[in-house]
Amino acid sequence: MYIRPVSDRKVISNLTDKVVTAQSQWIVEKNRGVITRLPELENIIRDLETIREAIQCNRDRMFHVTVLITVHGAGEDDLNTRCEAVESILARRATEVRPLTFRQLDALKSVLPAGNLCVYGKGTFRNLTLGGAAAVLPVSSAVLSHPSGVFLGFTSAGSPVFFDPFIGSPWLPNPHVAVFGYTGSGKSVTLKVLTGRLSLTGVRTIIFDLEAEYRRAIKHLYGGETVLVEPGVPAGMNPLEIEAERDPDTDKEYVNISDKVADVRALISTAVRGFANRALEPGEVAVLEEAVRELYAERNITSDPASLYEPGGRRIGGDTYAIGNVRKRMPTLSELHAKLEKKPGTSNLCLILKPFLRGNSLGMFDCETSVDLEAPVVAFDFSRIKDEFTKLYAMFVVLSWAWHKFALRYAGNKMVIVDEAWMFAKWPDSAKFLETLARRGRKHHTGLVIASQHVEEFLAREEGRAVISSCATQVLLGQNPTVADQVAEEFKLPDGMGERLQTFTDGRCLLKMGNGMAEVQITVLPYEMQFVRTGSGKDGGYVQ
Ligand SMILES: Nc1ncnc2c1ncn2[C@@H]1O[C@H](COP(=O)(O)OP(=O)(O)OP(=O)(O)O)[C@@H](O)[C@H]1O
Ligand SMILES: [Mg+2]
Repeated sequence: MYIRPVSDRKVISNLTDKVVTAQSQWIVEKNRGVITRLPELENIIRDLETIREAIQCNRDRMFHVTVLITVHGAGEDDLNTRCEAVESILARRATEVRPLTFRQLDALKSVLPAGNLCVYGKGTFRNLTLGGAAAVLPVSSAVLSHPSGVFLGFTSAGSPVFFDPFIGSPWLPNPHVAVFGYTGSGKSVTLKVLTGRLSLTGVRTIIFDLEAEYRRAIKHLYGGETVLVEPGVPAGMNPLEIEAERDPDTDKEYVNISDKVADVRALISTAVRGFANRALEPGEVAVLEEAVRELYAERNITSDPASLYEPGGRRIGGDTYAIGNVRKRMPTLSELHAKLEKKPGTSNLCLILKPFLRGNSLGMFDCETSVDLEAPVVAFDFSRIKDEFTKLYAMFVVLSWAWHKFALRYAGNKMVIVDEAWMFAKWPDSAKFLETLARRGRKHHTGLVIASQHVEEFLAREEGRAVISSCATQVLLGQNPTVADQVAEEFKLPDGMGERLQTFTDGRCLLKMGNGMAEVQITVLPYEMQFVRTGSGKDGGYVQ
């Protein structure tokens, strides 16, 4: 394909000639009294003038575009059949084809990858404006790859794709990834191979595993750990735990109490919405925020990171003595509840929050932190939780907790993978929370990876769309016919891509990385296959 810019001066002078010709014709026809062609001529004049003005004002440009198609065949008959097939496809799209019958040598030279167009003359190119020329470019680029990163698969043209989520500008504005596809299209497999390969490059990862399907890969492939989250059993994670974070602008550490207060508010409002089907009232929000701030203030926790510690040198229970500074005991949900109870106008809120306290069905997070995240890959297994709301609540708390313990604490590149993230998109507060994490994550070298079979849940609300648009890398696997067209429209895919998405299976996807886009087959390497496959049957259908 050759797209050659035409000099503005030449275009303007040609257009001016055409305008003048059309205008003279208009005068001639009018004087002759032939008025039927006048409106058509007026339209032509207006169109030409519009283009000329756009080019004069530098808003548009003109290009000569030549598209050469090489057809290969096993013999003359085969070649003819193939040529006819190509011609009929193009004819359906109102495209005229010019076979280069007596100009084979020029044609051959032109299709060699030397950028040397030897076919010229009348009828060998079309004039296109900038928009037209841009629309000529194919959906898939033959090459889509980063100079660093891990292997993902091959494009349809057969070139390997390497992906480095942390590569930064100009390739990717942020490390976040969104993966969408129908059930069985290959989302989990994609996430598993990505995790494994990234962990080899030193990227630490935490995974939200809803189906216990990562367990085998965690144990045998990544050398990681699994933390089980069960209903009613203390999970060893405290959502009120707070950590110091590094301000990327000043490079100083500080404790961001305001962000923590906002996270707790989002958590409680999701809990209230899911449990009582209502939003938090403005009065309740104010009291809640005040109570959370007071809990930290009582422990003298301020923006100074040193305020998270107290001097040791004393007995901290049994035969254990603390030497040096020890971390202060953090407030728990019970303490927050007790504080709220003492405030006016909170009786209903306190009632709703009761099941979230220790000993009750949702009380697994009313505890102090005892889990650590030292392994290179840590998965949180939520498979024992059956009820959808409890799952969302548990994921929300773990995400919020892990954010402080993981994203803010470790230097270096990190990923947080949330499989089945559509649950977050169901409620405005939780969807907003994902977006907030994405925004904060970029500054802390933390990539958020969300995968979902229900892209429509994300597209249905503004917060969900915001989450998608904050992911610079988007992996569109096979889509159901019911959503394919909507996906094509929302992701601004070229014509016909909606239909194509429906044909993708087993890890075939449309990969958008920054401004590039290509059709890619995610490749599972033989040694990975037995650990990443999912399926029915004993032991999840794994190959032994
Ligand atoms: N890249 C791939 N190469 C080969 N086979 C694949 C690939 N991706 C997926 N598959 C096949 O498809 C099956 C289902 O994939 P996967 O579990 O990733 O689907 P999913 O999109 O996560 O589905 P669900 O929404 O139900 O969780 C795999 O067990 C595997 O057999
Ligand atoms: Mg899956």
